Amino acid sequence: MDARNGIGGSLTGLDLRAEIDRLRKERNAVILAHYYQKPELQDLADFVGDSLDLSRKAAETDADVIAFCGVRFMAETAKILSPEKIVVLPDMNAGCSLEDSCPPDQFAAFRAQHPDHIALTYINCSVEVKALSDIIVTSSSAEKILSQIPKDQPIIFGPDKHLGGYINRKMDRDMLLWPGVCIVHEAFSETELLKLKAQHPDAPVAAHPECPPHVIDHADYVGSTSGILAYAQSMDADTLIVATEPHIIHQMEKAVPHKTFIGAPGADGNCNCNICPYMALNTMEKLYLALRDLEPRIEIEEGMRLKARKSLDRMLAMASATVGMGDLGPVKIGSAD
Ligand code: 13P
Ligand code: SF4
Repeated sequence: MDARNGIGGSLTGLDLRAEIDRLRKERNAVILAHYYQKPELQDLADFVGDSLDLSRKAAETDADVIAFCGVRFMAETAKILSPEKIVVLPDMNAGCSLEDSCPPDQFAAFRAQHPDHIALTYINCSVEVKALSDIIVTSSSAEKILSQIPKDQPIIFGPDKHLGGYINRKMDRDMLLWPGVCIVHEAFSETELLKLKAQHPDAPVAAHPECPPHVIDHADYVGSTSGILAYAQSMDADTLIVATEPHIIHQMEKAVPHKTFIGAPGADGNCNCNICPYMALNTMEKLYLALRDLEPRIEIEEGMRLKARKSLDRMLAMASATVGMGDLGPVKIGSAD
């Protein structure tokens, strides 16, 4: 058996946790993990966070190696921001349906059809699409960033039509939406959610903005993974219905063990269909091998990296500062080139 596909012969009997700890020290590596990772990966990570927090950590770390327990666009973002580091992703097949829904050539053609629009783009996309974009956003920074863009500026928002639609409604904007969806959040069932709410009438619902409107409409709180986690800690209720990828419940149970968290169901009445199949590809075995071999490694052609970096730098500046677009330089179509 190929050791990268599971517990191969050479890994049998290894204390993977101890080996990962040894290699992390030897390599001067930092292990970053997203909230959707398996609990054992979250528990050994040096830092667990949402897409924005993880980008910030990748930009500021002084480690020589970043081992990214997340999906490929997240590891690529780390490489774009920290090109001098070795960035490894335990499984290079850990993609994202939103990225898949937005091929760069089609996105470029769409932009060309709308020359007066700027492209505000969700971080869940390829390096090429980032390079074709003016400003990147995450779910936790999108509203703050949009509030710094004048209302009369036409905007293309991609690739998540549900996140874009949610922000359009909330902020009374009219962004042109790329028709991509997250297959994980798309799978929640309104009918099953209403049945669950009837069983737990006092439990609020927290939803990620990647959910479709028929789920968002039943939510008491809508926000990024870190926002949902904070809501779980601050809410008065004892029970929360969680409409996002269920592995985040691990952090909620650690933070507030006396409360109860229930994953919102899919059409089959349970929440297993809402496990992200891409995030699930990363395992302890593959992380061990990635640290041992420093493979699979993220590599990005330098010209492409620099173009993508511009739109990510604008995100980092606009997400944390009180500056407006004028302070960040002109954002016009073609500025990504
Ligand atoms: P967050 O930025 O909220 O962590 O979202 C990342 C993601 O991929 C959600 O599906
Ligand atoms: Fe992509 Fe959805 Fe998985 Fe997030 S949960 S990585 S948006 S497929």
